[in-house]
Amino acid sequence: MNPRAKPLRAALAGVFAIGMGGPLAHAAAPCSPCSPRTRSNPSAEKKNPCAARNPCAAARSKVDPRLVTRPKGTKLATGERAELLQLGESLWKDTKLSTNGLSCNTCHQGGAAFQNTFANPYPHYVAMAKEQGGLKRINLDEMVQFCLVVPMATKPLGWDSKQLAALTAYTADLQKTFRPAQAGKSNPCAAKNPCAPKANPCAAK
Ligand code: HEC
Repeated sequence: MNPRAKPLRAALAGVFAIGMGGPLAHAAAPCSPCSPRTRSNPSAEKKNPCAARNPCAAARSKVDPRLVTRPKGTKLATGERAELLQLGESLWKDTKLSTNGLSCNTCHQGGAAFQNTFANPYPHYVAMAKEQGGLKRINLDEMVQFCLVVPMATKPLGWDSKQLAALTAYTADLQKTFRPAQAGKSNPCAAKNPCAPKANPCAAK
């Protein structure tokens, strides 16, 4: 690689910025959702308009465990099972649920991104919940909230909302047919960690 390439490009960018001051001056940093540019530097993430839309930046950040821990005394909404499952399935595929264009299905299609722990009865240990929320064990409804807050960069649903009950019911149904061997196999996009630099489904966007 030519060691001069970078400074040269930087210099050129500078020239364009001064010389044109127009749209080109701003063209340097594309909003690639998982671009390394928005990853490494936490203060850059704060200022960077792309950062909020970066599922991988979000997926690496720490989360306040209170956001994803069911408050004592709250219960999931109840409803007819068939109705909950139907609503759950449509929410599962709904990108409007997130702030970054992802749906649950984007990452979990065909069992993708689920680790072997998904086969265990809840509550159980989930690596991501431990690493980013400090939680030793997590319930299924809490895990739904966790994925909403962290990879989908949005607010948790109301603990007694029909939506949370529906997504939890639908995910519980998926769990029944989940086999650990599925983890990472069924989907070409399924990496152990979807935000790992090597097998990064976000990089394609
Ligand atoms: C950007 C990708 C991404 C999106 C979008 C996403 N998840 Fe996840 N999810 C993950 C990853 C990665 C894991 C695995 C965490 C681990 O095992 O450490 C996971 C784990 C889970 C688990 C726990 C599996 C276990 O081991 O018990 C559940 C349940 C889950 N997701 C549900 C959802 C639901 C419901 C949605 C939509 C509201 C969703 N996820 C959206 C990436 C995603």
